[in-house]
Amino acid sequence: MGKIDREVVTVDLDAESIKKDFPILSNSENNKSLVYLDSGASAQMPRLVIDRINHYHQHEHANIHRGVYDLSEQATISYESVRSTVARFLNVADTSEVIFTKGTTHAINLVAHAFGRTFVRAGDEIVISHMEHHSNIVPWQQLCEEVGATLKIIPISDIGELDMEAYGRLLSERTKIVAVTHVSNVLGTINPIKEMVALAHSKDIPVLVDGAQGAPHMKVDIQDLDCDFYIFSGHKVCGPTGIGILYGKRNWLERMNPYEGGGDMILSVTFEKTTYAEIPAKFEAGTPPIASAIGLGEAIKYLEAIGLERIEKHEKVLTRYATEALTEINGLTVYGTAPNKAGVISFGVKGVHPHDMGTLLSDDGVAVRAGHHCAQPVMQRFKVPATTRASFYLYNTLEDIDRLVSSVRNAKKIFS
Ligand code: ALA
Repeated sequence: MGKIDREVVTVDLDAESIKKDFPILSNSENNKSLVYLDSGASAQMPRLVIDRINHYHQHEHANIHRGVYDLSEQATISYESVRSTVARFLNVADTSEVIFTKGTTHAINLVAHAFGRTFVRAGDEIVISHMEHHSNIVPWQQLCEEVGATLKIIPISDIGELDMEAYGRLLSERTKIVAVTHVSNVLGTINPIKEMVALAHSKDIPVLVDGAQGAPHMKVDIQDLDCDFYIFSGHKVCGPTGIGILYGKRNWLERMNPYEGGGDMILSVTFEKTTYAEIPAKFEAGTPPIASAIGLGEAIKYLEAIGLERIEKHEKVLTRYATEALTEINGLTVYGTAPNKAGVISFGVKGVHPHDMGTLLSDDGVAVRAGHHCAQPVMQRFKVPATTRASFYLYNTLEDIDRLVSSVRNAKKIFS
């Protein structure tokens, strides 16, 4: 269907074998073998992650940081070892800068509250972009309303790239933080984060990077990017739901007020005054999702064993192949055509509502997301109510793309 030599994919990454590591991918959808193209929303878990979580529940479960008995000590060791795994994954030198959260949304809310309450005042500005998903818009909007600050928006071009000149112009002495996505969950654009961080830092402005669609799909080197905060979710890197990561520079985390209060984040409590623990504990109030954290550690090791560079390359081949094949369909528009793109293709077909498209694809066993993708401003920018989105991961094959394309063709026929 596409013009790409199929060998390119199989030689570099054996996605067909990788698929066998994921029990759910041998399931069917509507009596057809499942083609899972919604990893942008949630990736699937390999068997070894599921087994690791089960093992924890059957043999290691106890609360952490509290007990002096063996089981609690073992659970604490397993949980804390994931902090080192995450630090290695992101190339973070100081493991205390790795904070466990419940996910990307929770982590961004943490920074918006803790950084915001400490550093943002009336008249200040916060810079985000037009391609953010709601998790990286609403918390900042709420903060602005609370303190009387203003949200400034970096515009995007027709192909879905950030307007870097406008970005430069938006940065001023009033800017307190830039919060930008690494990769757009709708357009697939990979943003020039290193350049953006350097520009912001030249004006002493910190940068938060929403890596929900970045960390799963490419090697992230925090020391190279030099961003102040980097965030991602466990369930998008083949781990479980309920766990996410906030990397933050010590210099900021130490000066930020805690977000949530409770057990584990305190040094001492009296009715007169509470003093707080050092980072990372200061930002991990209450019993954390221990099993999910341990599952996340296993998922990261799995991805590392395959290699993030290889995964990125594989997804680029899939994206090129799918884009070529889909754009051969009359009346099909792809939203987001930046040259530097990750494995996300949002599209619309004239005369077919994206929700109908999603349902018809599901009838063929093809799972995609249809809707506004929790990024309504992107829909407004491209003047569409919704799109259909296929998103790829390491377990997707060229055959998966062929199934997608033929199913889109069938759907179009039904409506013509
Ligand atoms: N932000 C997630 C997505 O893009 C949920 O589907």
